[in-house]
Amino acid sequence: IDIKTLRSVTGGMITIDPGYKNTGSCESAITFLDGEKGILRYRGYSIEELAEKADFLEVAYLLIFGELPNKEELKKFHKDITDESHVDEEMKKILDSFPKSAHPMGVLSSLTSALIAFNSSTVDVSSEKDMYEAIVRILAKFPVLVAWTLRKKKGLPLDYGDDTLGYVENIHKMMFKRPNQTYQKNDIVINALDKLLILHADHEQNCSTSTVRIVGSSHAGLFASLSAGISALWGPLHGGANQAVLEMLEAIEADGGDTKKYMAKAKDKQDPFRLMGFGHRVYKNFDPRAKIIKKAADEVLGDLGIDDPILDIAKGLEKEALEDPYFVDRKLYPNVDFYSGIIYRALGIPTEMFTVMFALGRLPGWIAQWREMRLRGEPIGRPRQVYIGEKQRPFVELDLR
Ligand code: ACO
Repeated sequence: IDIKTLRSVTGGMITIDPGYKNTGSCESAITFLDGEKGILRYRGYSIEELAEKADFLEVAYLLIFGELPNKEELKKFHKDITDESHVDEEMKKILDSFPKSAHPMGVLSSLTSALIAFNSSTVDVSSEKDMYEAIVRILAKFPVLVAWTLRKKKGLPLDYGDDTLGYVENIHKMMFKRPNQTYQKNDIVINALDKLLILHADHEQNCSTSTVRIVGSSHAGLFASLSAGISALWGPLHGGANQAVLEMLEAIEADGGDTKKYMAKAKDKQDPFRLMGFGHRVYKNFDPRAKIIKKAADEVLGDLGIDDPILDIAKGLEKEALEDPYFVDRKLYPNVDFYSGIIYRALGIPTEMFTVMFALGRLPGWIAQWREMRLRGEPIGRPRQVYIGEKQRPFVELDLR
């Protein structure tokens, strides 16, 4: 049934579905997920296979353009991105104007918006070339902004990338290279980072992706839509959960490390506290990404020889929750953010940067969703409401109120 017929047969009836728990906002050919069975596929390929066999740049290409690139396509894609990886020097002044204490997600969202002032932001969506160029431009410049955001926090000089390196290795170098020191590549770290980015690359119509699509549906430009997506991702119920997980673990440690006390808090309905990193809107059995990342977390911690009390608390909580009827009955399992925070900590990424790392991974997904929405010529997103406010009343003059 098409939407016009639907409207005519329902007489303009409105469905109320807070949080859109049962409302589909679009048709999409990008990501398939089955929350009951714990299946996640990008363009038909299982997340397990992609995480094992592909790298992040291949996955980005797959999500955005629909097919895995062949060697030539991948080489060209990487070269085109490398050619665009400069960011206008004036952008540094904008970054400079933020206090060091500014939250990196606010900084990243602002910088992404500011890019519009320095780069053509109007995209003729009927031109594949125009669209390709805009996509390459943001894939190239966004990692620089991410690295600068981290370096500003750490008081390190702002640098550009190394054209000879792979996409993810280059990001790692841009983030961590110290002045007067040779950058040491660590394959375990690069692989873990690559995997994390792949696992976060898309997740169909979540809060930030829906935001990107709805902002883009007004024909606002790509960078503006992405900047809005970054803001949506910031919240602790969405991308901010990985930061919230670590802050929760640190608070538990500071309070003596009693995990049982915090399990009880999470179950107490009078207490707003929730166990961060547990539960998912869609996955009600297990999060397939959490399985992959748990393995990666064990490898990274083992290989880097990290002994960290925070990580022991995480393991304790995981074990207790998996055996507790409250969590089992409500199907509250550790989600991807529970483990990603642990890996980021092991990699030496500051807690406040965790959600920025999520944004870096989600970038190709947002781009793919924006592109699909524009190519399909979707209408402007404009939900309705049921009004519950005052009935009509006469205006009261100021001096009579
Ligand atoms: N700790 C304790 N109880 C919880 C938790 C939790 N983490 N999550 C859900 N519950 C309880 C709720 O209190 C509710 O209990 P009730 O049925 O007795 O009232 C029940 O489980 C269902 O919870 P809802 O909030 O209705 O589930 P919803 O699907 O709307 O929310 C969400 C999912 C937001 C992820 C929730 O589980 C949560 O807040 N988790 C913690 C934050 C988090 O980890 N977010 C990251 C999500 S993944 C991502 O964005 C990539």
